[in-house]
Amino acid sequence: MKLLAISGSLREGSLNTMLAQAAMHLAPAGVEAAIATLHGLPLYNEDLRTAGIPAPVAQLEARVREADGVVIVTPEYNYSIPGVLKNALDWLSRLPPPPLAGKPVAIMSASPGMLGGVRAQDHLRQVLFGLDARTLTRPQVIVGSAATRFGPDGRLSDSTTVGLVEELMVALVGAGGKLDARHIDEGRNQRQFVRAVVGGGFR
Ligand SMILES: Cc1cc2nc3c(=O)[nH]c(=O)nc-3n(C[C@H](O)[C@H](O)[C@H](O)COP(=O)(O)O)c2cc1C
Repeated sequence: MKLLAISGSLREGSLNTMLAQAAMHLAPAGVEAAIATLHGLPLYNEDLRTAGIPAPVAQLEARVREADGVVIVTPEYNYSIPGVLKNALDWLSRLPPPPLAGKPVAIMSASPGMLGGVRAQDHLRQVLFGLDARTLTRPQVIVGSAATRFGPDGRLSDSTTVGLVEELMVALVGAGGKLDARHIDEGRNQRQFVRAVVGGGFR
């Protein structure tokens, strides 16, 4: 069983990359967990694609294809996902057959702000719906006040968040085998069921 995490931030010291690393550490025993970088991906250009898939795109494609489940961890930029992540998803959507189609995907977000990137998650779900990914719906891992939830060593130290991330990884591993219909995102707005880590640790 292979899991691949992708962080939507290129920043060194990124909270979202630290969350992606935590998710891979917290994955159930026996899982082969890795992190892919979005560094070096060119901006999507149909001319580039027809001339031959650029090497960084091909590398990302191969890693996504071989994964049984993918974790996407995104910052929120101006109420949406960063262009870096959207660009990567645009590339992946144009590689036949699209490597995320039918693939179980878990999503998470982290922000120093109170809302933890929840608006970016809504947009990410929409894009993944377009890519026909099998986006999990539970638990929703929305990490607000994120700078306070990691120790000085960069490890996730907030026990509530640790528990939620562990739960999400178990769900993803389950989805990588036989998908539980409960976890399929059917594109409905299920905001009323949000279990979030916001501000003081509300779930
Ligand atoms: C262009 C830009 C737009 C941002 N917009 C938002 C926003 O809409 N909501 C939010 O919670 N944080 C926003 N932020 C702050 C980011 O959440 C913060 O920089 C965060 O640390 C980025 O994630 P990272 O630590 O993984 O790089 C924005 C940051 C940038 C650079």
